[in-house]
Amino acid sequence: MLELNLQNLHAALQDPILNIPVFHTEIMNRYPKAISFAPGAPNLDFAKDFTPADYIARFVKHLRDDRGLTAQQASNLLYEYGPSRGIINELVAEALRRDLGVDVAARSVVITVGAQEAMLLVLRALRRDAEDLIAVVNPCFIGFSGAARLLDVELVPVEETADGPDLDQLACACRQARAAGRRIRALYVAPDYSNPAGTLMDRGARERLLDLAAQEDLLLIEDNTYGFTVAPGAEVPAIKALDRDRRVILIGTFAKICLPGARVGLVVADQPVGPQGGGRVLADELAKLKGVITLNTPAVSQAVIGGMLLEHGGSIARTGAEKSALYRRNLNVMLDALDRHLGDGEGLPGGISWNRPSGGFFIRMRLPVRADAKLLESCAARYQVLWTPMSQFFLDGKGTNEIRLSCSYLDTEQIEEGVRRLAAFLRGLGA
Ligand SMILES: Cc1ncc(COP(=O)(O)O)c(C=O)c1O
Repeated sequence: MLELNLQNLHAALQDPILNIPVFHTEIMNRYPKAISFAPGAPNLDFAKDFTPADYIARFVKHLRDDRGLTAQQASNLLYEYGPSRGIINELVAEALRRDLGVDVAARSVVITVGAQEAMLLVLRALRRDAEDLIAVVNPCFIGFSGAARLLDVELVPVEETADGPDLDQLACACRQARAAGRRIRALYVAPDYSNPAGTLMDRGARERLLDLAAQEDLLLIEDNTYGFTVAPGAEVPAIKALDRDRRVILIGTFAKICLPGARVGLVVADQPVGPQGGGRVLADELAKLKGVITLNTPAVSQAVIGGMLLEHGGSIARTGAEKSALYRRNLNVMLDALDRHLGDGEGLPGGISWNRPSGGFFIRMRLPVRADAKLLESCAARYQVLWTPMSQFFLDGKGTNEIRLSCSYLDTEQIEEGVRRLAAFLRGLGA
């Protein structure tokens, strides 16, 4: 029988980044009774009363009443192959205007198969040749770093500080790239409670980043996935909303706001493409690429998301409001439990600390020991609680003594019990 040699397949297949999801699934399967703070999974409580057919019907009604389609045209739109750029672009553009103050034409929006496909499309379009580099916050969401690996895009890590990417380091990296005859095309950043670090950039940090991007002629790839989890009244403008010269490409997803299984995301790319672009914008080019990747985002999925938006007055924020409140409640329960179980430091080794994000899915915790797969395995076996080694998200071997904790999909009792187990494990480290 023919045997393929892994060495002769794409190098990404040997990259540890691509094994991380498998690693998580395997350890969760091996310890089914463990409470897992490992995956940043959406809470499926909301799926209990979920009725996709009602949302589809709502979207079809919109097609007929508001867009003047006949019943036949509406069902064709749902059941046929569809346009690569999507069929809910107007609704999404309107929601972005209303909720984020991002004022773009529907034509600048492409509806993608999750944020993941948006990342692939943007990386593919921006990498002209091997001289091109993309900067990323370090630690970085593995969906982005993994996609870059797949496309042979070389990444430049830029330290993520409590204010977001380290701007001095970014400026220095741009200068070094230029000196070497290369160019950093863009920086990937998730300013709203990043994954994995949980960092929220304030308005000043966002403005300073835009200034630097203008100075260094960089594009910014803004991942807005957890933006909806910010508490009402505490919103910080999206970088895209502050963007005066179309320097920002915005990536979003309905995975956490609506449902992950629909696999619907979006990219806003309103950058004009010249000189032979013929009045086109980058979104047109991305749609062209999408045409040979997934052709179109499943229309039925788009109809469900479109219907959900319509049911909530066309607002992404209102669609996600209940979930946002639940995720914040979970996070507060977790932070409170950490304070109660670990706050006084009794019986604990020194050097344990954690951040206190006000939203998002993730808490970043520092340990006094190396937090690797071996330690995770012994923690799982002995204490029945799981977490994610933070080093998996770093591009340069850092983060060895840190873990990522997420409680998005757990209930409050599980969180309380999980933290109790985590505290016992941490006390064991000092013994
Ligand atoms: C930072 C970030 N971006 C994007 C996504 C989601 O992408 P998708 O829409 O492909 O599920 C996630 C989900 O884990 C994420 O953490």
